[in-house]
Amino acid sequence: MPGVAEDGGRIGDAVSPFASRTGYGSTHRPPAKRLMLIALAGLPGAGKSTLAKGLQTRLHAEVVSRDTIRMAEFPEWDDRAAKRAAFEIVRLDVSLLLRTGATVVVDGAPLSTRGERHELHELAAGLGVPFVLLWLDLPPEVAAQRIAQDRHEAPPDRQPCLAHAVAGRFEPPVGEDGMVHLDARLPAAGLLDAAVRALPGRR
Ligand SMILES: Nc1ncnc2c1ncn2[C@@H]1O[C@H](COP(=O)(O)OP(=O)(O)O)[C@@H](O)[C@H]1O
Ligand SMILES: [Mg+2]
Repeated sequence: MPGVAEDGGRIGDAVSPFASRTGYGSTHRPPAKRLMLIALAGLPGAGKSTLAKGLQTRLHAEVVSRDTIRMAEFPEWDDRAAKRAAFEIVRLDVSLLLRTGATVVVDGAPLSTRGERHELHELAAGLGVPFVLLWLDLPPEVAAQRIAQDRHEAPPDRQPCLAHAVAGRFEPPVGEDGMVHLDARLPAAGLLDAAVRALPGRR
């Protein structure tokens, strides 16, 4: 039966609701040269979304943003339960997109716990896809300053004090598999170059 995946699910039907909600596939990407899952970790204000956009263009990647999903699905809620529910959707979207052959960038969450990072790593490993964790390391006071100055649409809890609150619970990913430590004080263009250079197979 045309359009039916090997596991019996209809791939087109499964992807389209996500695509219309989040804009996946809007870049008309050519096939990725190297399929991988790239997760961005760092404080609010560290520059994750800016880097995600750069990687999207440079790698023809799809960006899956927890905050975008949270604001679309749970606009009234910004508590932990809503963030966790949105993270579950992130995992579903990432899984679908990796199966279509896309390189995927996970954005929109600080990934402050080893547990969340491990879940993404396991998801990639289960599909045989390389996993890279880009840690955008920035002092909380600089992150707070950036939040105070930024102008884009943001969840209501995105206030300068959030950078300090997340810093208090951020578990540094030192020694974790696939982790690349980036100095997020670099200007955006330099940070993008450093990130791309650090990806497997791109030296
Ligand atoms: N490398 C950078 N250097 C200086 N300012 C940056 C850099 N990257 C992003 N910014 C600015 O800092 C603010 C936060 O960036 P953003 O990408 O939204 O961070 P995050 O997604 O980690 O919260 C924005 O106003 C953005 O324009
Ligand atoms: Mg962001």
